[in-house]
Order: sequence, then structure tokens, then C-alpha cells
Amino acid sequence: MASVPSLASSVNQRVADALASALPEAGGADPLLRRSDRADFQANGILALAKKAKANPRELATTVVEGIPTGDLIKEIEVSGPGFLNITVADGAIISTLAARAADDRLGVPLNASAGTTVIDYAQPNVAKEMHVGHLRSAVIGAAMVEILEFTGEKVIRRHHIGDWGTQFGMLIQYLLEHPHELDHKSDSEVSGEEAMSNLNRLYKASRALFDSDEEFKTRARARVVDLQAGEPETLALWQRFVDESKIYFYSVFNKLDMDIQDPDVVGESGYNDMLVETCKLLEESGVAVRSNGALCVFFEDVKGPDGNPTPLIVQKSDGGFGYAATDLSAIRDRVTNLGATELIYVVDARQSLHFKMVFETARRAGWLNDDVKAVQLAFGTVLGKDGKPFKTREGETVRLVDLLDEAVERATAVVREKAEKVGLTEAEIVENGQYVGIGAVKYADLSTSASRDYKFDLDQMVSLNGDTSVYLQYAYARIRSILRRAGDRKPVAHPELELAPAERALGLHLDGFGELIAEAAAEHAPHKVAAYLYQLSSLFTTFYTECPVVKPEPELVVGENRLFLCELTARTLSKGMSLLGIRTPEKL
Ligand code: ARG
Repeated sequence: MASVPSLASSVNQRVADALASALPEAGGADPLLRRSDRADFQANGILALAKKAKANPRELATTVVEGIPTGDLIKEIEVSGPGFLNITVADGAIISTLAARAADDRLGVPLNASAGTTVIDYAQPNVAKEMHVGHLRSAVIGAAMVEILEFTGEKVIRRHHIGDWGTQFGMLIQYLLEHPHELDHKSDSEVSGEEAMSNLNRLYKASRALFDSDEEFKTRARARVVDLQAGEPETLALWQRFVDESKIYFYSVFNKLDMDIQDPDVVGESGYNDMLVETCKLLEESGVAVRSNGALCVFFEDVKGPDGNPTPLIVQKSDGGFGYAATDLSAIRDRVTNLGATELIYVVDARQSLHFKMVFETARRAGWLNDDVKAVQLAFGTVLGKDGKPFKTREGETVRLVDLLDEAVERATAVVREKAEKVGLTEAEIVENGQYVGIGAVKYADLSTSASRDYKFDLDQMVSLNGDTSVYLQYAYARIRSILRRAGDRKPVAHPELELAPAERALGLHLDGFGELIAEAAAEHAPHKVAAYLYQLSSLFTTFYTECPVVKPEPELVVGENRLFLCELTARTLSKGMSLLGIRTPEKL
């Protein structure tokens, strides 16, 4: 594991040193280096320094340029405009840096020196309920954040805060108690996810119908809620059966999503029951929460209802029942105190933002969150239908996530099949690739726009071979792998002594930015930046491939010494980046 400083950081250091020595009394300045179309990099920091030191910016720029040696790293540096620096790096520097990256398993990506422990709350479906596109977003974005953070060296603890508690269980349990054979099957392993869900749906509908039509059942169901909260063993055992049945279903969907969810990480709302009383006590004793009409409430200056009156966060209802907020506050205590979190990330729908704003502020007032332990909601937008309205079936019902996934795989398999003969895929490979492409398409569509934005769920667009789609990236990867196969024994070797063509330089400089991209995506919780980087990488590769022959068709001759090397590093970077997004890269496509 050797982290490789990027060219940008090396150049930045050279310019920073020159700025500091050109005007020692001014105390230096940030070079403000960025990638540029005119040269490889442009540094704009001289303007601010000149202003501060009351110097002429162009003259200062000239002095700075004189202080920067050209050679191995910087090939050319010139002053432009009012005092910008245009910097071109040496071809050899590009290839040597990339060679150092290629020699490292981590592609030279540095570990975060100030890594901590992040607890990430994501993939949190609700017991006895169907999963929908909202659950897709939380799962996909959360899983990508886990991978990105772990890649930077962060310790990540996953928490799947499933909705496994609440008054609706009174009705369900009471019904099951009165119809004991309704959930009978020999063993869990004999039930498919689909069957589990259809059992739960049937029970839900039947108990709901009874609850709405039979007053006596309603009374019994309500009494059952009290038994559940009191931990009455028979009631708890039945509740557990609902949870277990639901988990069969959840795992089947996560499996379809090619996601690894571990049972010990599933700590639902019920997992904090033992802490609720204590949480309320702590809040009340410290004065953070106050009794108002019997309920335990936290008030906020800036949170008011439509009538202008303050809307409190209700931690405990006047009937003594605990709600969503009490659970979330207890979870914060657990995650900070017992799990040692330095950061909490909640991948939850933006429509719950007010809840989290109030919960986080309450936890800050109580001292559970502070400058060293932060909580953020990675809030995501709504999935829309092609019509731009929240995604619904024609009948106006919520679309089942499994149906969407199945359709995506079906469409993707058709796309894969079209080229299968040419590529030489077996039937088993077609089926497997269909899954990788279909699920990849759904994940990528979700991850390639910034999480906070809404996006349209459009399968036609998602499996299209052109444009910003995962299939496009997967094809780029597979094409490189096929080039490498055709090159046979010729090994990809870096040759820093050789000149680079413009398309090779462009590709090389982009490859060099991978480490910085990862640091940025991790710090900003922005998986979409990884997607954008990979898309650009594939586009640059496509240009490179068009302009710079790598393997000539007849006879199979490898040309351009650095080209095979660039191909291989591009493939490794693509596949690593895609794996961070939870997307597979088949070798042949
Ligand atoms: N189960 C909730 C839902 O389906 C999401 C839970 C979010 N996490 C939390 N700690 N409140 O909307």
C-alpha cells in the first residue's frame, strides 16, 4: 500500500513554494490550481496574493514563474491574462505517476489521515410491508457511501433501521393469534421472498378488514399493543414471526439487488426499546424536553406549524407511548456511546428532513452530538415516473421494487443477447450479464444524479448503450479486457521516456485524479461524483481508442508502447470505481 501523490498535488506544492519565496513577507497563498483546457493546469492564486501585498500581479507572476524549475515535473509554465499561470506537465511525469499507481493494489489512493468511525443508517424497509423505490434509493446510495468511506480507511458500521415496531403490530399479532395457521410453513428456507411477502400481504389485508369492521377485534388488537410493549412472551413470539417472515422477503430483494446485508447489522426500531425510558428521563432532567399537555416535547425557535404556533418534536406521547423520535434519539445515544461513532449518516428520504433536523438539534442540546460527533442526513429526492410525477402504477398504487428490478433485468438481458453471438457468450453468461447490466443500470441511474435531486425512472434510457449509463461504462470495461486478451503475451509496461499523443495525455491526467476524486466523494458524501468521474473516464477512453490504435487487426500487433499500459490502468480504475457503486463489470459483454 503506497499512496501516490497526484500530479496536481505535486504541481500545487511547487507553485505554493514559489509563491511563498517570491513574497516571503506576505506569508504565501493558495495557488488555486485547477485543471484547464488551455494547458494541463491553471493557477489563479497570484491575483489574491498580489492584492494582499499591493504588488502588480503580472510582475509577481513573472517572478513566480522564474522561481519554478522546469524539467521532470513541469514542462512549461507561462503567464497569461492578468496574472494566471498556465502549466503543462511533462509526459514522462504523467506516465511515471501512473506507473506508481499501477504498482499499488489501491491504485495509489491515499488513506484519509483523519479517518474516524462512521455509523451509516441505510436500507431500512418496514416489516410486513412491500419495498418500493424509496427503499431502493436508501439502499443503493447507502451501500455506495459505505464502500467509498471504507476505501478511504474509515471504520464503517452499518445499521439497517427497519420499521419493526408500532401500533400496527397489535392488529397483525391479534389476527395471527386468532388464525394460528396463517403463517405456517415447514421452515424458512422453504419459503421464497415472494411467498413470504404474499403471506404478509394476505395477513395484513385480512387483519385490516377485521379491524375496520369488527369493534371487538379492534379492542382486542389495541390491548395487544399494550402486551407487545410490555414484552408479554407469547405476543413477542408472534411479533418475531412477522419480523422473520419479512426478513426472508427483504433478503430476497437485497439479493436481487446484488447487495450484501448482514443480519447483525439489522437493528430495527425495536432494538432501542430498552433505552427509551432512559432517553426521556435524560431529556427531561436536563430541561431539553418539557411536558406540554402531558406529552414530552422539545421546542424550536424556527419550527412553526401553518398556524404560526411552534411545532414540537414529541418524544413521548401523552398516553405514555413512544414514537419515532424517541427511537431515533436512543439510536443516537447507542451509536455515539456504545459504537464510538465520530459521524452519523442517515440515508433517508428528504421528506423526513424536518424530523432529522429536530432530532439532531435535540441530541446536540443534550450533548450527545457535538463538534467531535456530527450527524448528517444524506437526504434523497423522489423517484418520478416518465410523466414527472411521483412513481405510481397506472392504478395509482406504489410500484413494487421487485417488479422494477425484474423488468430491468429482462430488458438488459435482451440488450446483452443481441451482441452475445459476436462476443461469444454462453447462455449462462447471457443470463448472468443480464443481471449485472440490469441491476447496474438501476443503481447507476440512482447514483449518477446528486442524491438530493428527484429523477425519472426510465428503463429505456437506463439500458441505453449511449449516454451516461452503466451499460456504457460496462462496455468500455469489457472492450478494454478484450484488447488486453488480444494482446496476448505482451505485458502492459509503462514507458516514461516516450512522448504522449493528446488523447493519451488527457486520459492519463484524468486517471491521475482518481485519488482526489475519492477523497472528495467521501468528504462530501457524494457518490454521484464517482459516477461522473467514471463516465468521463470512459469518454476519454473512447476518444483515446479512436485516435490511438492499440492493437492492429491484422496481424495482431500491439502498437504504441504506453497504450496497453493506459488500457490496463483504465480498466482497473473503472472496475474499482464501479465496484464502489455496487456495479459489476463483466469481462465479456
Ligand atoms: N423505515 C423508514 C422508512 O421506510 C426509514 C427509517 C430511516 N431511519 C431512521 N433512523 N429513522 O421510511
